[in-house]
Amino acid sequence: MSSQQSRGAGSVDIERAVALLRAGELVAFPTETVYGLGADAANAAAVAKIFAAKGRPADHPLIVHLPLHTPFDIWAREVPAAAALLAEVFWPGPLTMILKRSPRVSDLVTGGQDTVGLRVPAHPLARELLVAFGSGIAAPSANRFGRISPTTAAHVRQELGDRVALILDGGPCPVGIESTIVDLTRPVPALLRPGAITAQEIADVLGLPRLMQPVDDGTGPRVSGSLPSHYAPHTPLRLVAAADLPEEIASRLDQGLHVAVLARQARRVFHNRVTWQAIVPDVAGYAHDLYAHLRALDAVEVNLILVEAPPQSDEWLAVNDRLGRAAAGTAEDEET
Ligand code: TXA
Ligand code: MG
Repeated sequence: MSSQQSRGAGSVDIERAVALLRAGELVAFPTETVYGLGADAANAAAVAKIFAAKGRPADHPLIVHLPLHTPFDIWAREVPAAAALLAEVFWPGPLTMILKRSPRVSDLVTGGQDTVGLRVPAHPLARELLVAFGSGIAAPSANRFGRISPTTAAHVRQELGDRVALILDGGPCPVGIESTIVDLTRPVPALLRPGAITAQEIADVLGLPRLMQPVDDGTGPRVSGSLPSHYAPHTPLRLVAAADLPEEIASRLDQGLHVAVLARQARRVFHNRVTWQAIVPDVAGYAHDLYAHLRALDAVEVNLILVEAPPQSDEWLAVNDRLGRAAAGTAEDEET
């Protein structure tokens, strides 16, 4: 299959994307969070292609993306008042809700679970595509399994090449990290994945003091983003407290290593074995650029990526979550 990237996608591309989706092909598209790898959620054979293209285990459920104002009951069989309220406040936007599935949702989409993830994205191209398609599009992030989510069309091309029939190019994703996921199938909603919409914002809308922490009693849904080793570059990555950074760099240089540094401060160490990438210090700017910087640093020939740890405050929760998984997903073997 030959694939095509559509730059600055217009209405012709949307028509082509819709025709491909109807024909059971894969179309990558921008959302406000990251690029998604989409298939017709109602076509099991098409959904199966997503798993093949990503190399993703079949028991990991996919989020169904919907046009705004889709009746919930097409996809979910129980819709708590909280779901309608959150939809009204946060959709379109970077929030995914987990609800009890309706019987029409394919096992492939839900990973065989009794729940389904639903989200109405805010990116204009995604919205146009969903309205033109007129039904649900199942879409994980458009990366190979376990790797960094793509935030540009070029990243999708690097990850998936010809495994996708068309890539709609909507430029860099404005948010830059994946949606917040909230589980509404339990008596008290639980945060499954932190994102740009914070747990406190959700709790406030619902009139709750706070959301529940997800309980892993074995009955809960499986969230691939919750595996510790998710969102990982190939190069080993270490988080280092800001105060320890100069010493850590010096000791790595002593070991003869080449290191890349991602820091919220301008370059401080000048050495030919140090690649320094400054990143926007505020949380929204940091999230926006994080994956692109990790990808770029991963492409540089270094032994180790050192990331200056951001603050531990609530507003940094989603960023720290992704950095923690990136660190956990990379084993450091250069010391042997
Ligand atoms: O921002 C996003 O959510 C992006 C864009 C493309 O919408 N999508 C995304 O999809 O991040 P993915 O598949 O890479 O991550 C979705 C996460 C996975 O960890 C999956 O396990 C979880 O959502 N998920 C999906 N359906 C679920 C369900 N029914 N129950 C629990 N977790 C679910
Ligand atoms: Mg993903």
